[in-house]
Amino acid sequence: MKAESVLVLIKPDGMQKAIAGEVISQFLNSDLKLTGMKLVQVSLKLAQSHYGHLRGKFFFKEIVSYLMGDLHGKNPVVAMVFTGTDAVAKARRMAGATNPEEADPRSVRGKFGRVTTKGVFENLVHVSSDITEARREIALWFKKEETI
Ligand code: TYD
Repeated sequence: MKAESVLVLIKPDGMQKAIAGEVISQFLNSDLKLTGMKLVQVSLKLAQSHYGHLRGKFFFKEIVSYLMGDLHGKNPVVAMVFTGTDAVAKARRMAGATNPEEADPRSVRGKFGRVTTKGVFENLVHVSSDITEARREIALWFKKEETI
């Protein structure tokens, strides 16, 4: 099978909780290869473009603020690209379900995520939803020469 790439973000709550190392370990401890990695202080423009397809949702404003670190001490995001066979499905399995309460307890979101009293899913990581989204997101977050 052909290798594919996926964007994985450790969101500002992951940085604030000082668990980036554990999250990165969990993703590295798979057969996927790390092919891009950097720290990003997320701008309004980048956050809005990243979640562009969710613009109409009631939680859009909240997740844009969340990605910018407004809810978590203005912490940055660790942006990574992982590459390998079935990378999107494998990375999404390691991340767990969108709602941390429904996520496999051994997944990143199951272990470390929470739902706030306002109902926002603080789920620590973002993983591209499919190959098309992965291509769009990787081009948005990384210049070509920043990935190997
Ligand atoms: P989405 O892209 O649907 O999920 P995923 O990140 O698993 O691909 O949603 C984007 C983010 O929006 C998600 O990480 C958490 C947040 N969110 C909520 O806060 N409430 C919701 O009801 C949903 C569906 C998402």
